[in-house]
Amino acid sequence: MTQPHLTIVDHPLVQHKLTLMRDKSTSTAGFRRLLREISLLLAYEITRELEMTTTRIETPLCEMDAPVLEGKKLALISILRAGNGLLDGILELIPAARVGFIGLYRDPETLQPVQYYSKVPSGLDERMTIVVDPMLATGNSSVVAIDLLKKAGAKNLRFLCLLASPEGVERMRLAHPDVPIVTAALDERLDDHGYIVPGLGDAGDRMFGTK
Ligand code: URA
Repeated sequence: MTQPHLTIVDHPLVQHKLTLMRDKSTSTAGFRRLLREISLLLAYEITRELEMTTTRIETPLCEMDAPVLEGKKLALISILRAGNGLLDGILELIPAARVGFIGLYRDPETLQPVQYYSKVPSGLDERMTIVVDPMLATGNSSVVAIDLLKKAGAKNLRFLCLLASPEGVERMRLAHPDVPIVTAALDERLDDHGYIVPGLGDAGDRMFGTK
């Protein structure tokens, strides 16, 4: 399903793997493996608009102008800590990408993001910049992360997540209507603690086996 601002990757493999990830009986190791696999499939969708050029090569049969990626290496920005689960898979597909990290934690009382770390690549004004965080819940963290990246010069931004809430999508649409979102599913709602329902729980805890 595609709205101008939101793409839901409703591919059977993505949906099957997502169901396994939602299941609370899935082990930490299984969750991590599935997240890596699903991130490859989501990366395929979010990089669809990378610019191309051609290069002259010689196949065993003849010369041809063959398509290659153009321009500066793209930037992947992981929102710590859960973003790293998506990042690892995408880096397998795009090993030359530049990588940045933004550390935000959610104050449990106010649900507002508090920044504790930021290190992003230079030249963001010339790179497609993909922000990764598995859960687009309230949207507060993603809005703050994208504010920060725009201040650092990023112009061509995308946001990649595994699950989104309607509240998070709306918050992003209002704050950053120029940033397309790609997700595996749009869930029903947020609960009173800011968790996505039905969701999959705390993505960081599921990924790292913490509680
Ligand atoms: N972060 C998570 O890890 N899970 C949610 O449901 C919401 C935010």
